[in-house]
Amino acid sequence: MARRLHGMVVAITGASAGIGKALAEALASKGAKLALCARRVERLEELNRQLGGGHLCIQADVANPADCERFINATAEHFGRIDALVCNAGYGFVRTTAQTSHEEMAAIFATNVFGTTDCIRAAVPIMSKQEIGDRYRGQIVIISSAAARRGLPFFGPYSATKAAQMNLAEALRVELRPEKIAVTTVAPVGTNTEFFRVAEGKTGLKRPATDTKVRQTAETVARKIVRVIERPRRELWPLRPSRWALNLAAFFPGITDRAMSYYFRQIDRLNRP
Ligand SMILES: NC(=O)c1ccc[n+]([C@@H]2O[C@H](COP(=O)([O-])OP(=O)(O)OC[C@H]3O[C@@H](n4cnc5c(N)ncnc54)[C@H](OP(=O)(O)O)[C@@H]3O)[C@@H](O)[C@H]2O)c1
Repeated sequence: MARRLHGMVVAITGASAGIGKALAEALASKGAKLALCARRVERLEELNRQLGGGHLCIQADVANPADCERFINATAEHFGRIDALVCNAGYGFVRTTAQTSHEEMAAIFATNVFGTTDCIRAAVPIMSKQEIGDRYRGQIVIISSAAARRGLPFFGPYSATKAAQMNLAEALRVELRPEKIAVTTVAPVGTNTEFFRVAEGKTGLKRPATDTKVRQTAETVARKIVRVIERPRRELWPLRPSRWALNLAAFFPGITDRAMSYYFRQIDRLNRP
């Protein structure tokens, strides 16, 4: 049976742009009540106005554990429950692994991984006390990436954070089963958002321009996430063949390394002085 989206309370991190924003729009159109967080709170407030108001907007930096706890507690206080938590806030940067400083490495783990686990740690005790509605007390949706299953050259640290999220979700899924809290990982491929502009801006290094037509839109990804909130599943691969391609790639690491070396050389050439 599908969970009822109308009146469902969904907390989304990183809702000021991209996939998080598109998801907020899609869920609001189905009557969900939203708690949104990001650092650019003015964008959240503008989004809330566009959606007709009534949603909760919290300025939070998920790299700060206290902000995660404050966001989750404010959601529960405001709406009385949390039916789904979407851990979406994240970023990448263009740099080889060996050239990534300790500080850059710590910062990306703080946002992408600890920002996820700190929100989950605060939300689970709240969800565990809720009544079971439509088979579940709650759901945790983690926006990982297809890069979780294969580290990308110049995106090694980013890929590692996404792999960490996916591994944590696999453990969490089993751990939270007795609590009737569903855990879903989402593994998008290249999606048209601010992601790549932010990734280049962090280091000043460029990556080859991708034809935006080959990327999925944030709206397509969001529509599919709405479906896994309605009917929780273990994993969502918004571009379905990418799942099988990556599984196959794991069987042929030599061929995959050669394909990845081509991508590496492209970025390397682009950034030579
Ligand atoms: N686009 C892709 O190709 C792609 C592919 C696979 C997976 N993903 C994943 O999808 C998720 C969303 O990315 P996107 O593509 O939608 O990128 P985006 O357009 O750059 O949006 C990123 C969102 O995360 C928020 N955010 C970043 N750092 C934050 C922090 N420290 N605290 C709170 N919010 C923070 C940003 O808000 P503020 O800047 O206002 O804080 C923004 O709302 C990420 O986890 C990303 O890894 C993206």
